Amino acid sequence: MSKIPNWFEETPHAKKNFEEFLLPMAGKENLKFLQLGAFTGDASVWMLDNVLTGKGSELHDVDLFIETPELAFLKLEWGGIENTYLERTSKYTNVTLYKQHTHVFLKTAPLDYYDFIYVDACPEAVDVLIEAELSWFSLKVGGIIAFDDYEFGMERVNHLKTPKRGVETFHSRRREKLSLVNVPTHQVWLKKESN
Ligand SMILES: C[S@@+](CC[C@H](N)C(=O)[O-])C[C@H]1O[C@@H](n2cnc3c(N)ncnc32)[C@H](O)[C@@H]1O
Repeated sequence: MSKIPNWFEETPHAKKNFEEFLLPMAGKENLKFLQLGAFTGDASVWMLDNVLTGKGSELHDVDLFIETPELAFLKLEWGGIENTYLERTSKYTNVTLYKQHTHVFLKTAPLDYYDFIYVDACPEAVDVLIEAELSWFSLKVGGIIAFDDYEFGMERVNHLKTPKRGVETFHSRRREKLSLVNVPTHQVWLKKESN
């Protein structure tokens, strides 16, 4: 079994983007954030400690704690990962874990509800596209949707196995209603300008 990674701190730009684009919202009341793919809760704890501190602000995390094929080589112990998540988030009253497939969760997610959606679950292009398209209805106008792993290394090997084509298809389909928040590198951050 390998050491459990901390992708939030260790991947280039993840934490830096959170600091740049989410800290300006810190402490506001009634912020609603959604994270698709929570893992051990590294990004969850950061958002709860640094941004979702105002009255009524909440985080919804969705994770099945399952091994997706591209992580199989790490030989992680997923029961331990789930327990780590549960232990780390147990002291917060404003986080809810939905142990569901992301697509199933999004099909009944509230409409025009979230200020921020972080898409970081299964990296396959089609999965990311479905998550993005379903998230569209749940994201408020003025809200931000961010995708991790945009330039994930397997793009050169098999473009269906990486988020890039999914993100690009979503962006080009909704181009007139989205603005680009960052220069796309490892992550893409987009703002919903209209419905
Ligand atoms: C890259 S990790 C998330 C990292 C986390 N966002 C962070 O920054 O610390 C991906 C997570 O997505 C979960 N996952 C993958 N596909 C999923 C799916 N279809 N539905 C629910 N969870 C999924 C995995 O169990 C894993 O914990």
